[in-house]
Amino acid sequence: MACGINRVVVIGTGFVGSSYAYSLVNQAITEELVLIDLNEEKAKGEEMDLNHGVGFSTTATKVWAGDYSDCKDADIVCITAGLNQNQGKTRLDSVGENTEIFKSIIQPVMDSGFDGIFIIATNPVDIMTYITWKLSGLPKEKVIGTGTLLDTSRYRFMLGEYFNVNSQDVNGYIIGEHGDTQVAAMSSTTIGGKRIVDIVNSSSKYSMKELDDISVYVRDVAYKIVQCKGSTYYGIGMGLSRLTKAILKNENIILPVSTYLNGEYGFKDIYAGFPASINRNGSGEIVELDLNEDEKKKLFYSIELLKNTLAKKF
Ligand code: LAC
Repeated sequence: MACGINRVVVIGTGFVGSSYAYSLVNQAITEELVLIDLNEEKAKGEEMDLNHGVGFSTTATKVWAGDYSDCKDADIVCITAGLNQNQGKTRLDSVGENTEIFKSIIQPVMDSGFDGIFIIATNPVDIMTYITWKLSGLPKEKVIGTGTLLDTSRYRFMLGEYFNVNSQDVNGYIIGEHGDTQVAAMSSTTIGGKRIVDIVNSSSKYSMKELDDISVYVRDVAYKIVQCKGSTYYGIGMGLSRLTKAILKNENIILPVSTYLNGEYGFKDIYAGFPASINRNGSGEIVELDLNEDEKKKLFYSIELLKNTLAKKF
């Protein structure tokens, strides 16, 4: 890559991929943006539509519909391609079809000479991230899934509403599977440095039951959005561009991504959502949160589900 010129390649220009592309251009996060889709017409349409808006952004992004050869000089390849979560289906239900789709994507990307970082958004994202790592042969830190990035944003938003504070002042995470077994690490969640469980216990305005209801809402809200509008894409699109910015700007920010566990939390050889430092080299140090016994039990179940799902693939 030319010095200082960042290139991001998006594979899949459906709702998620095009929302991500729009967010990247609108925030001027990368200098080059390449769109790849089986439906070349669609990718071309997204190229033209985005280029017509570039002038409204702070700095110009060069956008084009390309092919796998454009991955050679890419800093990031993001895969959003795959089957959407259909109404009444879980994210895990798409694992079979999406694994086959990934087998047709990863090889041509690697054949281009790609040596950057993969970001995976396709569900079930923890499984698809592991599969990408295995198929690509890249070091584990250079393969990152969106994990519980969006879940954590939803969690912080809901707690911000509940406690009437800016969600950026909520420091807490959803961990584990990006899915039905995700775990709200509530016992370590703080607002302004004060644990929310202590805030709740010190005022009759709040209750632990309502906090639990919030974590259930966060776990299930994607189904509601799918029911209302067919699929989710703005939240994940913005989360993808936040993760992209953290990598390209070498931020060393802590984000809850799907990252490879090598003993952290007592688990090995699995990708799942945990707070990790994100920089130009990919995902780094994993933050091991203090969990209470109930959270540890739920996390064990979540990781076991992912391992069992993976065992059927490998
Ligand atoms: C959601 C999708 C990204 O949770 O799985 O909205």
